[in-house]
Amino acid sequence: MMAAPGSSPGPAKGLELRGVKKRFPTRSGELIVLDGVDLRLPAGAAAAILGPSGSGKSTLLHIAGTLERPSEGTVLIDGGDPFQLSERELARFRNRRLGFIFQDHHLLPQCNVLENVLMPALASPEPIDLNGEGVEERCRRLLDRVGLAERLEHAPAELSGGERQRVAIARALALRPALVLADEPTGNLDRGAARAVGALLLEVQHEEGAMLVVVTHSAELAALFPNRLELDRGQLKPATL
Ligand SMILES: Nc1ncnc2c1ncn2[C@@H]1O[C@H](COP(=O)(O)OP(=O)(O)O)[C@@H](O)[C@H]1O
Ligand SMILES: [Mg+2]
Repeated sequence: MMAAPGSSPGPAKGLELRGVKKRFPTRSGELIVLDGVDLRLPAGAAAAILGPSGSGKSTLLHIAGTLERPSEGTVLIDGGDPFQLSERELARFRNRRLGFIFQDHHLLPQCNVLENVLMPALASPEPIDLNGEGVEERCRRLLDRVGLAERLEHAPAELSGGERQRVAIARALALRPALVLADEPTGNLDRGAARAVGALLLEVQHEEGAMLVVVTHSAELAALFPNRLELDRGQLKPATL
């Protein structure tokens, strides 16, 4: 029997990858990028996944974030397999249960800071219920938390790189996701801003009780995480920092 993601009672809460493989057909044959990835992250926990460029970090993050299907293996989020959902249900699941942070902030240039953080709620086809907290109230609170209370009406172009990533953090957490996925979130920042944004991301994730998976080639960013793994020849192993 398959439990729907987020339903209860059900199997353990958290993120689990079991034997995840990903192959891409190429002109010179099949490219095996992930070759049996196993991962278990309890609810509310954070992990950094290290690996050099081309090691499959983004591919792994996309699969955990349901943006791409594995060739083999299983993804379980709070005990349910999201890939069993219909496309429509999967889109809803992604909107409500997952938050994404990218290397390039992916903010909408024509929208101001507050509007960008409200966007996941505006994109939802149904009213959002956040256990009594109003959506706008929550977005303002998150923006205050990441130090941008004075920037609500700025356009993304009027912010520094570090500030833009702070907006992206608030947006990723706006709808109380179970899981936040970040792909090189500090990759475009100078060292000082990278350190500050990395630390802030971990703090806010912890306060909000969301799981966090960060993939990065930066040992400095990974060092902020107690739980560090490494992608090596398509498999995950404990990182040797
Ligand atoms: N859609 C695709 N088709 C073919 N090859 C791909 C595709 N996506 C990624 N790859 C290949 O998979 C490998 C891992 O890519 P990626 O996950 O982006 O690595 P990383 O994020 O660690 O730099 C690379 O060799 C890349 O060229
Ligand atoms: Mg990548």
